Amino acid sequence: MIRLVGCFSSLRYWCLLPLAHFGPKFRKIVYNFGLLQSVRFKKFRFPTALILIAVIFANCDNKNAKNKVGKKVRRPSISFAALPKSVRSPDDNPASVEKELLGRFLFYDPILSGNKDVACATCHHPNNGYAEFLDISIGVNGKGFGSRRDFRIPNDIPFVKRNAHSVLNTAFNGIDTKNHYNPKTAPMFWDDRAKSLESQALEPIKTLEEMRGRDYSETEILKEVVKRVKNIPEYRKLFHNAFDDEEITIENISKAIAAFERTLLANNSRFDAYMRGDSEALSISEKDGFELFKKVGCANCHNGPMFSDYKSHVLGVPENKKLPLPDRGIGDSFAFRTASLRNLRFTAPYMHNGSFNDLQRVLEFYEDISFGRSRNPLLPKEKFDPLVRELELSVKDMSQIISFLNSLNDQDFDKSIPEKVPSGLPVAGNIQ
Ligand code: HEC
Ligand code: HEC
Repeated sequence: MIRLVGCFSSLRYWCLLPLAHFGPKFRKIVYNFGLLQSVRFKKFRFPTALILIAVIFANCDNKNAKNKVGKKVRRPSISFAALPKSVRSPDDNPASVEKELLGRFLFYDPILSGNKDVACATCHHPNNGYAEFLDISIGVNGKGFGSRRDFRIPNDIPFVKRNAHSVLNTAFNGIDTKNHYNPKTAPMFWDDRAKSLESQALEPIKTLEEMRGRDYSETEILKEVVKRVKNIPEYRKLFHNAFDDEEITIENISKAIAAFERTLLANNSRFDAYMRGDSEALSISEKDGFELFKKVGCANCHNGPMFSDYKSHVLGVPENKKLPLPDRGIGDSFAFRTASLRNLRFTAPYMHNGSFNDLQRVLEFYEDISFGRSRNPLLPKEKFDPLVRELELSVKDMSQIISFLNSLNDQDFDKSIPEKVPSGLPVAGNIQ
């Protein structure tokens, strides 16, 4: 209905013209709209009116309709599915139990960081759903866990400039609405700057504020990490089991970590059960929430089994004031990759810089956009993605959409933590 009204207002001319057929009073209305003074209404006959009505409805077609600012918008194909039950690995890194075991130790071992104080698990800990309850991360020279994490004093290390994703289900990154994905080219990070879990795994090790620290340069750190791992007998054994007689290399370190990450799945949410055929798995209000989610326009970007189109969009998320400079996103365009909406219970605070503490605030932000308001002074609403300007969200829809989003949580994932790691350093780094 909303769409119909919108469509009538943008096509007032064509909508009102047929009325002229129904007599002088109606002709006057058309005339008063100032739309068409020159048409000689008398010539209108009933068939003409019918044809015009048909034209109106053809123009109201859902696809490629004009958006609120009059630009043509290409609507994506939208469909949803349960996540696959198992995961595909790239041909050059087949999964094996030995490799996953090795990768698990490496994931929890701060030996991979310059100052031996940060592990992958520092920011991606199972107790936080492999994400972090912190707006932007603190890596090197940090102490404490989750929202209590802070820098040690003195400190000369900057904040990590973005919010940590959950590693859960990243094995499916890039999956499309037909469940196709390629583990070799899977997009990683808010700005897609790495492809595949294998290549992603080396980035935090090389980044000053995440794991590297000030004692090593980007090229030195990888060599240093290999040297350290080679010196630990238990790792030598684990590598031998995982990669036969191959040498311990940085590539094999990244392959083992990626193989472990592919075991971190949360693909049995109630929504997955519903999509696999259990119609009772969602409550009535969650089902209504799902319909609203599609109707108001969220699904234009959040679609497919991960609820992400894996495309980049400009939304005008406010900047995080802890950072000295604005985060300009992909190609300085302020675009970021659509976030997955799975396991939102663990990914708060939300957005690339953790700007919003809870889902209510995220929805209020989208409501502002739908009223044409920008919350980022650097981004006037004209710069927003056409698909987000299409949103028709109002307060009354929010709680149902949020209740639907909660059905995408799956708490039943691997929460086990190794008791110790081969280096003997504190498991998961300095998180006490
Ligand atoms: C200091 C905190 C920190 C540490 C340590 C850390 N990460 Fe992250 N991780 C982040 C942040 C922040 C992001 C998002 C960064 C971005 O997108 O620019 C991220 C993103 C990721 C992603 C991308 C997920 C996606 O959907 O795109 C993966 C995978 C990942 N990290 C795995 C790892 C692995 C493996 C390690 C260890 C080698 C690691 N992380 C170490 C904070 C951390
Ligand atoms: C134009 C595409 C688009 C539309 C439409 C859209 N989103 Fe988003 N969504 C994104 C992008 C892109 C991000 C990441 C933005 C960022 O961090 O800067 C995001 C982030 C989110 C997040 C944060 C997830 C996290 O873990 O941080 C939530 C929640 C969310 N969207 C829900 C919704 C809901 C609900 C709607 C409908 C009211 C909606 N989105 C409409 C593209 C879209």
